[in-house]
Amino acid sequence: MEVHEVNLTISAVAPKQYPDGGLPEIALAGRSNVGKSSLINTLINRKAYARTSSQPGKTQTLNFYNVEQQVYFVDVPGYGFAKVSKKAREAFGQMIETYLSTRKPLRGVILLVDARHDPSEDDISMYDWLTYYDIPLLVVATKSDKIAKGKWNQSESRIRKGLGMQASAPFIQFSAETKQGKAVVWQWIEQQAAL
Ligand code: GTP
Ligand code: MG
Repeated sequence: MEVHEVNLTISAVAPKQYPDGGLPEIALAGRSNVGKSSLINTLINRKAYARTSSQPGKTQTLNFYNVEQQVYFVDVPGYGFAKVSKKAREAFGQMIETYLSTRKPLRGVILLVDARHDPSEDDISMYDWLTYYDIPLLVVATKSDKIAKGKWNQSESRIRKGLGMQASAPFIQFSAETKQGKAVVWQWIEQQAAL
């Protein structure tokens, strides 16, 4: 999709704030600092529309970005962020679970993991949870500019094995720096959202 128009429609914490209007939604999930907001910026050709930070925990609400009046990208707060209190973490978890498990227009989730590392316990829980709810899922390995191309296959195998992915489950190496993988991520989104 050629993106010209993007609007942050709402930063929501509760279901009554979710937008109506019936557009399909694609959500981004993954641990804090993995690059969810950066992936959104890459997809919409902006440098810093969705706010990013080298400090984990930047995104703290469900941010609904209306893209071309055709689809919402939903930037979800990252999990595994140690600096917030246990109570805040539980509230975050509740907010994310409520959205992902009840939201009718949700057409798919992009689960981001770091291309350089084995999936964490939290990544595995999130993967299992999304699979349990039967939500269409794309696993994206981010920051792949930080590893040599010759190591990409190895990175993919480790992530697939760590998450227990089926061989047919979709996986893409991505980089917000080089835009590697951008077109394929868009293809997946267009397919899920029937654009
Ligand atoms: P939270 O909102 O805290 O959950 O984080 P996030 O997942 O939205 O991460 P964000 O997009 O803010 O990126 C975190 C940091 O990683 C920033 O400093 C980004 O510039 C950097 N980053 C994100 N994607 C990439 C990438 O593909 N390559 C490189 N080299 N750095 C990246
Ligand atoms: Mg963010």
